Amino acid sequence: MLGFKSIKAALLISMLGFVSLIATTQVSAACSFVSTKDSSALAIKGTDTDTPQAKEFLETCINPYTKAYAADPTLIKAGGKKLFGYNGCSGCHGGKLEGVMAPSLRKDGGQGAFDTRWVYAKNATDKGMFETISGGSAGVSGGVMSPWNITLAEHVGDGLTTDDILKIIGYIRSEYRGDGEKTWLK
Ligand code: HEC
Repeated sequence: MLGFKSIKAALLISMLGFVSLIATTQVSAACSFVSTKDSSALAIKGTDTDTPQAKEFLETCINPYTKAYAADPTLIKAGGKKLFGYNGCSGCHGGKLEGVMAPSLRKDGGQGAFDTRWVYAKNATDKGMFETISGGSAGVSGGVMSPWNITLAEHVGDGLTTDDILKIIGYIRSEYRGDGEKTWLK
């Protein structure tokens, strides 16, 4: 007959098994990315220098800066706004995100079809916009977005880290004036 001790031991062993099962599930739930160009897999890599925010995003697909910027707009200027200006995004998208030779990113109704809606519907999510800025786009609007993520071999110039891109997305969200739902704040 099984003694009380061996039942306890068996219970403990099955609990440990359960815990390790949860741990494995969490690892395999890491965010996986697809290219906005052609829906192929986008091999964004984690790096040793990733910030806690970048790590969180690569695990969960949720950009922590979007809600942090909405809660405290004083963080934006030295964060995503500065990066947007420094990296030449404003040269094409405008200093106020109003769109110059590329679509408006604030979507409040300038010229052209894409001044009121996203060229790529997936850009209504932070994960989708991260994929567009990281891996570039196909040119549906008539112009092409270059790939920026530094962990992709084909990135332009010095590239941008995952953390930089997440901050820039937080800034773009904070400037949104369109009439679509702000799904990224959910
Ligand atoms: C050389 C001009 C140019 C530069 C510089 C540039 N973009 Fe773009 N961007 C474009 C064009 C053109 C498109 C539309 C692409 C398409 O239709 O496939 C676009 C599209 C986008 C979109 C998707 C817009 C939508 O409505 O779906 C985002 C977001 C974006 N760019 C962010 C950025 C950020 C952030 C930077 C700086 C890191 C940047 N862009 C730099 C030209 C540029």
